[in-house]
Formats: sequence, C-alpha cells, structure tokens
Amino acid sequence: MTIVRETIRETHQTLEAAGIPDARLEAEVMVMTVMPDDLAGIIGQRLERIPLAYILGYREFYGINVVVTPDVLIPRPETEGIVEHTLFMALMGMETRELSIADVGTGSGAIAVNLAIHLPAARIYAVDISEPALDVAAWNIRAHSVADRIRLGHGDLLEPVPESVDLIVANLPYIPTDRIPTLQPEVQCEPGAALDGGPDGLDLVRRLLAQAPGKLNSPGIILLELDPEQFPAAEAVALQHFPDAEITAEQDLSHRDRIMVISRP
Ligand SMILES: C[S@@+](CC[C@H](N)C(=O)[O-])C[C@H]1O[C@@H](n2cnc3c(N)ncnc32)[C@H](O)[C@@H]1O
Repeated sequence: MTIVRETIRETHQTLEAAGIPDARLEAEVMVMTVMPDDLAGIIGQRLERIPLAYILGYREFYGINVVVTPDVLIPRPETEGIVEHTLFMALMGMETRELSIADVGTGSGAIAVNLAIHLPAARIYAVDISEPALDVAAWNIRAHSVADRIRLGHGDLLEPVPESVDLIVANLPYIPTDRIPTLQPEVQCEPGAALDGGPDGLDLVRRLLAQAPGKLNSPGIILLELDPEQFPAAEAVALQHFPDAEITAEQDLSHRDRIMVISRP
C-alpha cells in the first residue's frame, strides 16, 4: 500500500504542478484504474508459469539489474558465488597485473558485467554459442557502461577467445538431459541450450576442460559452477587435463559444493 500511496502522491504533484483541476481526485482515479489492469496482466502470465523475471524483463544479480529475455537463462543466486570468488581471487592474488578473464557461456552477461564493474582494469571476453543471448549481453554491457572492458565472442566454448587468459569462469549447462522434463514449468521456459548438459550433465564441462590447457596462463584459475553431485566426476576430468592443479570447492548458501576452483600453478 505504501507504493500505491506514493504513486498517487507523485501523480497528484505532477498534475497539480501543471495546473490541472481536481488533481488529487484524478490522481487517485488514474492510479487505481491502471494498477489493477497491470497487476492482472502480470498475474495472468504468472499463472501460465512464465517466470517473473521474463514478465518484468529483468532480474537483480549481485546488486545490479540485469535485463533478461527468454533467450537467456535467468541468473541464479548461487551464481553470484562465481562473481564473489573471482573478485576475491583477482583482488587478493593477481592484483599486480592487468587481468584477462574469459566468461564462457555468458548468457545475459550477468557474470561478465559484474566482473567488469568491479575490476576496471581487467580485459574480459564473454563468449556464447547463442547469438540471441549475445544480443542480450550486449544490451547489459551498454546499460552498465562497461563496453570498453568486455569483448563479446560468438562460438564454441573457448574457441573465440583470442589469447590465453588468467581466469576462466563458466556457468555452463550442467543439468542431465533426462532430468530436464522433471523440472518445474518455469525452468522449461528457459532456453534448452542453457540447461542441457548431456547424459550426466558434464558434456560441456568435459569439453571446456579439454580446451582449457591451451587457453589458461600459468598461474591461472578456472571457476566452474556445478551440481554438488558432479564434483567427484568433474574433479577426475580436471586432474586429467591439469595434473599439477590444486582443486578446491566453494559452497553455496545451502552449504553444498557449488563452485569448483582449479588452480594451475
Ligand atoms: C547456464 S547458462 C549461464 C548463463 C550465465 N552465465 C549465467 O550464469 O546466468 C549457460 C550458457 O552457456 C551457453 N552455451 C551452451 N553451449 C555453449 C557452447 N558450446 N559454447 C559457448 N556457450 C555455450 C548457453 O547458450 C547459455 O547462455
């Protein structure tokens, strides 16, 4: 009700300043007429199980509003951990030089944009296989004025990244194919290419780790978001490609392993 009262007050002031008669009454009538219609529209779409972020066109992520459309995954709270740990590592360990970072499977650009905001000297490559997703990322990059720090690349995993980088961050699709039809209807509205990780969910992670040795500096770090159950299998793959690496897990808000950190010496 506070928001309704505030909207009426502002509308009243605007009308009054323009010399419109009966400004208060008209403000009340306008707001109370329009709001139920808008709300009914939103509720109607929600009842069709369309995610609220797609209806509103944005989602808050790590303190900024990120524009989303059905062409991109809606950024999740657990993914904020990737931003947080990347910033921690960048600011603690590698602050002496200009960092290069690849955000693989950037989607809306939520991770890349936040890293660019907090690491103004970093050179960031944001890659996706989906051109419509890259259009959304481009929008967010412009909206947050970080176009000078992020280069978009279209293609498969690390292929579009033109140099080896200090940090690779990736929230790639990691849901096993046969689990997708069992997920709630809201998730079914999201792009299949953003969810489907193949039979055990690790197809893209395996391919990324196979490409990574040639695209990661020494020292260098890879941060991967995974399902907690996938850690043992993903760790085995990581050690195959990075036998000298230290591998650790960062937990999400439910205290479950969520981000695999592969540190190449
Ligand atoms: C789980 S979504 C993550 C989006 C965003 N990074 C986030 O965390 O909200 C995965 C993204 O990876 C992209 N993707 C899938 N396969 C890819 C590939 N082979 N190469 C590059 N990107 C890919 C999808 O298009 C999707 O945007």
